[in-house]
Amino acid sequence: MARLEIRNISKKYEQQYTESFSLVNIDLTVEDGEFLSILGTSGCGKTTILGIITGIIKPDTGSLFVENVDITEMPIEKRNFALVAQQPLLFPNMNVMDNVAFGLKMKGVSKGDRLELANDILSKLGLKGLEKRFSTQLSGGERQRVAIARAMVTAPKVLLMDEPFNALHEELRVDMRELLYKLHKENRVTTIFVTHFKEEANFLSDKIVIMSKGKIDEIKLL
Ligand SMILES: Nc1ncnc2c1ncn2[C@@H]1O[C@H](COP(=O)(O)OP(=O)(O)OP(=O)(O)O)[C@@H](O)[C@H]1O
Ligand SMILES: [Mg+2]
Repeated sequence: MARLEIRNISKKYEQQYTESFSLVNIDLTVEDGEFLSILGTSGCGKTTILGIITGIIKPDTGSLFVENVDITEMPIEKRNFALVAQQPLLFPNMNVMDNVAFGLKMKGVSKGDRLELANDILSKLGLKGLEKRFSTQLSGGERQRVAIARAMVTAPKVLLMDEPFNALHEELRVDMRELLYKLHKENRVTTIFVTHFKEEANFLSDKIVIMSKGKIDEIKLL
């Protein structure tokens, strides 16, 4: 759990042919335990912000702070953030259990503890009984829940989710939204959730950031 501060972040991609920046002077604070949604149309820079926070993308200007510590130059693996990507990919050669436990293995968690932590999150996400399945043997909703389990199991300081329910049909989206709401109430992990669905943001969030063309237009507290 952590308070995240984004200060004066700008980013322009090299390959970008227009003169406009992808992100222009973004300032944003996510309080400890807060659920923040970023709402905006396609191409406004939502995925770019998440990439900069995780460390996958290097910003041109600006800094990131976690609990007042500057992490701008900190390597990805040291940040202890987790990302559920826009196109969630599970490791195809690993079953559900191994996919979920992988991050713990990388952190040097013992086998017994890995099993316990993975089992706990799998049952919270209604995935018990599917431990031995591979990605291709899961439905879209199940795959999505495994991706969320994989992100949550490591107890990240900040959880980043990039339109995680896009591939799901309407009914399942609503179920997933409710599940995520419940999980956040339980664990209070600082979360940034990207979506272009207003109702989803309204339902889930403590704070909503509305973006267009690389800029923040409005920050709404709910
Ligand atoms: N690797 C890249 N090289 C050049 N331009 C890029 C690159 N990645 C993204 N862009 C451009 O930067 C802008 C922001 O992209 P980004 O992926 O952050 O948008 P987004 O808000 O996540 O959109 P969507 O809702 O469609 O996922 C877009 O104009 C996009 O074309
Ligand atoms: Mg995106």
